[in-house]
Amino acid sequence: MITLSGRTALVTGGSRGIGRATALVLAEAGARVVIADRTDCFADPDTATWAEIVRRGGQAESRYLDVSDSAAVDTLLADVSTGHGLDILVNNAGILQSGEIAETSDETWREQFRVNVDGTFYCMRAAVRAMLAGGAGTGGKPRGKIVNISSISGLRGNPGFAAYCAAKAAVVNLTRQAAIDYSPRGININSVAPGFVETDMTALYDAPTREALEGQTPNGRWADPRQIAEAVLFLASDLSDHVVGDILAVDGGWLIGTPVVTR
Ligand SMILES: NC(=O)c1ccc[n+]([C@@H]2O[C@H](COP(=O)([O-])OP(=O)(O)OC[C@H]3O[C@@H](n4cnc5c(N)ncnc54)[C@H](O)[C@@H]3O)[C@@H](O)[C@H]2O)c1
Repeated sequence: MITLSGRTALVTGGSRGIGRATALVLAEAGARVVIADRTDCFADPDTATWAEIVRRGGQAESRYLDVSDSAAVDTLLADVSTGHGLDILVNNAGILQSGEIAETSDETWREQFRVNVDGTFYCMRAAVRAMLAGGAGTGGKPRGKIVNISSISGLRGNPGFAAYCAAKAAVVNLTRQAAIDYSPRGININSVAPGFVETDMTALYDAPTREALEGQTPNGRWADPRQIAEAVLFLASDLSDHVVGDILAVDGGWLIGTPVVTR
């Protein structure tokens, strides 16, 4: 069994979807979870992620954060690490906007990068500083764990999503680059690249498109958010201590190829 007992995890975008599932799974493993989102602390206590964790006997709190605000990220991360130390960061907050290049406005392009890339960078930078100050590399074992949620769209072209694909590709290579710099100093940095997952984000797909995407996926299914969260749990735990700079696809096989025979 994986245990994160005694560790503090910060999950960005944890109020719904993959981030919510991740916060719940990390809390089940014993982590104290801080949910940093634009919405969770304003949500109904019957539904908010932090409240659900507390109801299940875990430890959680919710803090307002816009990850694209560099100063706010620094303030929140300093506050969390001063109070409890910071062991795990899950950079999950993200936005999806569609459009081929010809249809993509300057504002859409910048917004995709502001949230998906700048937000990931700001949170990584603040977390790395906090983890190093907290002695992440002492004792010979990695103590700091950073998991960036990228996407299959950062590893392959995805028709009609120019800015999103470019932004997620940046997250993929920032993960690899940072893993080289910080693995020697006790911080493991990896990424989970989800395929198609049942969340509010993918509600934009109509039924025929969904069916076509399922047909292109070797196991024929979209993921439940919990299946992504369990991969994050592995990368946040001691079990992954020798996994460095990896991009773990959790995609039903979509990246390896498309079945020829339609189900
Ligand atoms: N759903 C999928 O099929 C899929 C596939 C691949 C990758 N992803 C990635 O997984 C992550 C989570 O996606 P999801 O499907 O759960 O999306 P979602 O839209 O359901 O949830 C996104 C969460 O991020 C938060 N958020 C957005 N912008 C923010 C900001 N600036 N600051 C703080 N919080 C912010 C939202 O409030 C929300 O809670 C994203 O990075 C997304 O790109 C999703």
